[in-house]
Amino acid sequence: MKQIVLIGFMGAGKTTIGHLLAQETGLTQYDFDELVVNKIGMSIADYFDRFGSDAFRAVETSILEESADLSGIISTGGGIVLKEKNRAILKEMPYVIYLKADMMALIERVVLDKRNVRPLAESKSPEEIAEVYLPRVPLYEESAKIIIETTGRTPEDIVKEILNEVGKR
Ligand code: S3P
Repeated sequence: MKQIVLIGFMGAGKTTIGHLLAQETGLTQYDFDELVVNKIGMSIADYFDRFGSDAFRAVETSILEESADLSGIISTGGGIVLKEKNRAILKEMPYVIYLKADMMALIERVVLDKRNVRPLAESKSPEEIAEVYLPRVPLYEESAKIIIETTGRTPEDIVKEILNEVGKR
């Protein structure tokens, strides 16, 4: 195993779990939001404001294409599954893991996370964030090889299950 890709909604723990997985496996962690910021030279929020979501999604796709053969732990952005082209690329990757969580837990985490400004969640009500979340669930499910339930579990426990599942394949 040389690559694990984490997908899931905002607040699912993709970055945290990715960091721990990198520590456990000795692989490098690549965080999509960081890669995007490096490429665009400004914050994601500013980029959304100036160029809109389609331009952001195009940058995301180009990074996904570049990542196909990357060796490492790849934490994607929550919207990576929205484009069919991205889902097709994900389906070709061997270990795509959906970090699944209870909707209310996700919404609470996103609302409480003041350090990370997310244009699609900022100044939205829980009901509005749920409207972003719900249509994405089947897209995460169809793009993943492995689904891991994370609600109420420690990051260490989740990492153990991921490595166990990946080891079986
Ligand atoms: C987004 C999720 C964010 C970031 C951008 C759009 C989304 O990443 O890519 O704000 O559409 O769900 P995280 O999932 O890391 O918060």
